[in-house]
Amino acid sequence: MSSISQAVQSRDVRQLGINPNHWYVVARSSEVTKTPVGVVLWQQAIALYRDSTGTIHALEDRCPHRQVKLSHGQVVGNNLECAYHGWRFDSSGECAAVPYLAENQKLPSCKIRRYLVKEQNGFIWLFPGNESPSVEPLGLPEWEHLNYIATVSVINCNAHYSYLIENLMDMYHGHLHQDLQAWAEAALQDIDEDATRVDAHYTAQSYYKIDKIWSISQLFFPALRRLHPEPLDVSYIYPHWASRLGQDFKIYCLLCPVNETQTKAYLVHFTSLNAFWRLHKLPVWFRRFVKDSLFGAAQKLLDGLVVQDVKMIEEEQQAYLQNPDRHNYELNRALVSVQRLMRSQVEKIK
Ligand code: FES
Ligand SMILES: [Fe+2]
Repeated sequence: MSSISQAVQSRDVRQLGINPNHWYVVARSSEVTKTPVGVVLWQQAIALYRDSTGTIHALEDRCPHRQVKLSHGQVVGNNLECAYHGWRFDSSGECAAVPYLAENQKLPSCKIRRYLVKEQNGFIWLFPGNESPSVEPLGLPEWEHLNYIATVSVINCNAHYSYLIENLMDMYHGHLHQDLQAWAEAALQDIDEDATRVDAHYTAQSYYKIDKIWSISQLFFPALRRLHPEPLDVSYIYPHWASRLGQDFKIYCLLCPVNETQTKAYLVHFTSLNAFWRLHKLPVWFRRFVKDSLFGAAQKLLDGLVVQDVKMIEEEQQAYLQNPDRHNYELNRALVSVQRLMRSQVEKIK
């Protein structure tokens, strides 16, 4: 790896918007029921709800009558009813009913915005762009796959999304997590990048090897862990992140940037059971039982990593707000690639 020392011009990156022509993750599937829920994606308040058939809809979270939040209301049939005066809106955002409409009055033509949403792999993916999508949601094939056990941790940080992505792409920050034993001795080998993604290839040492059925207990008992070399690949697949440590672990970070100084994200960790060929010969119902029973096996590790990372990321944001002209000194060239991708994605929409 060629070592570079670069005074990163961070100012504009920390004020970048998002490219809306991608699918963002705004909620977990389980969070959206027939009771509407309000979410915010890049300053846009959005009401999510399920209709009587279980289909998810996303409408602008604003009643056009008096501008209050529609997510305070309720679902009636397939319509969303405002809590205040009971006006109802259909899934296309048209006003469908006003309970006190006089005979000589017409329904007001006050349409609100409807967003494209998809429910896929346990999450709700929303497309905030005005064009029709030319890309598919990133998707998590391991979510349904019987050979992977999942753990989900929610990140809520008071920082611009660029700080989170840079944290996730800079594997030298294993230093921060030494006590949690996630990975060690990362060394950047190579970077591939194009207009949509940056793939940074590191070598590292992993503490965990999932090759026996009891290996899962390494997640709980530190004494069972042994350091051994593994490739560590991290990818910024705009606007999300994915990683792989050897054959045993995959982690995704699904982003929902809220505004310039707030980011929500879902960190999804998968432990592979691929090495257990005996397990794969067992009936599907049993394999599903194993998968479901082990859901959340890495919760303590994942939540611990999130707490440590969020603390650093929020401090970076505060330091920037106090001294926006102060330069950072960056030695990891993957971060230069990451900033280039963020900028180019936003420039595309100008
Ligand atoms: S404010 Fe929504 S119905 Fe009046
Ligand atoms: Fe981290």
